[in-house]
Amino acid sequence: MIEAASPHTMNTYGRVPIALSHGQGVRVWDVNGRQYLDALAGIAVNTLGHNHPKLVPALQDQISKLIHTSNYYHVPNQEKLAAKLVELSGLTNVFFCSTGLEANEAALKLARKFGHDKGIERPEIVVYEKSFHGRSIATLSATGNPKVQAGFGPLVEGFIRVPVNDIESLKAATEGNPNVVAVFFETIQGEGGVNPMRAEYLRQVRALCDERDWLLMIDEVQCGMGRTGKWFAHQWAGIKPDVMPLAKGLGSGVPVGAVVAGPKAANIFQPGNHGTTFGGNPLSMRAGVETIRIMEEDGLLENAARVGAHLKAAFEREFGSLPGVKEIRGQGLMLGIELDKPCGVLVTRAVEAGLLLSVTADTVIRIVPPLILTTAEADEIVGLLAPLVRAFLAE
Ligand SMILES: Cc1ncc(COP(=O)(O)O)c(C=O)c1O
Repeated sequence: MIEAASPHTMNTYGRVPIALSHGQGVRVWDVNGRQYLDALAGIAVNTLGHNHPKLVPALQDQISKLIHTSNYYHVPNQEKLAAKLVELSGLTNVFFCSTGLEANEAALKLARKFGHDKGIERPEIVVYEKSFHGRSIATLSATGNPKVQAGFGPLVEGFIRVPVNDIESLKAATEGNPNVVAVFFETIQGEGGVNPMRAEYLRQVRALCDERDWLLMIDEVQCGMGRTGKWFAHQWAGIKPDVMPLAKGLGSGVPVGAVVAGPKAANIFQPGNHGTTFGGNPLSMRAGVETIRIMEEDGLLENAARVGAHLKAAFEREFGSLPGVKEIRGQGLMLGIELDKPCGVLVTRAVEAGLLLSVTADTVIRIVPPLILTTAEADEIVGLLAPLVRAFLAE
């Protein structure tokens, strides 16, 4: 265990007192040689786990050629990754950046310019309670968590907040308002506690956006890239968004963000409207191209769906009837177990037991492992977690 606080890095993270040194598959080791099962995957990032035998040589090859150039020049893998994302999403054009908040920031700019192009001077965007979209000033303003916003006012204006899965509330909150330009949500809220939007609700919002000429913008930063067993979680509802921010799992650990847009939003940005130095650089693009190639070759969507269903069923068997367990939610390898009391202490206890996980929204144990997880490894997660949860609930 690492006891001392870090004297030179800013005090932004409540850290668990271990430092990791290397990994293999879904296992990681700390600097003292202790092994952990990784059910967190760097918060839904390490799609292919650690030291993947196909990804690592590809990245080594890329590093030896070019890491970064500039968007002054063409980057051939930008076009390749964009074409792949277009194929997988059914949308048309992609902008690349490096992180989730940047992807969302770009989406918010798209929505505002969509409004301005239609003559709406003060565009407003519908956002949701319990949402999380990032920690820049605009994305924290869109986020539905007062703790994330505290201390950073004044917030960016132009957001209308509604509850999830309630079409009547959405209609009432936007009734007669000509300034609304977009609806923006996560298909499954991640930081907010693994809260899925219902398929029927997604279809209702899609229809409303079509009727009112609003952009449907779906933040798939955490739930996208195969995590639920489809490329993008909204695809379970058979709908398409107009704008879809991505990041996290897209580069399997190399920072890559993207905004994928459909016909209604693809031509809003013109030269000079948006850009970023690192976005779409050769290393990140190679990581994205190879991550998707390996996911397809190794059937990881099917794996996420199958192993996720196995894991959820095991959680239901183990915890479903335990007093103190409120709900087991999520899809594929994005699962949450909600308890009836704050359970942040379980993060450290799990580490002590050799398991990496997180607790989000105070009371929800979040399991977002690499998509290469096997059913045997899923059973191991359950075996490590079950005694911890039972003991905690008995306290
Ligand atoms: C749904 C969602 N959107 C955006 C973000 C922000 O991404 P980043 O931390 O890469 O800025 C996150 C991060 O947790 C997220 O879960």
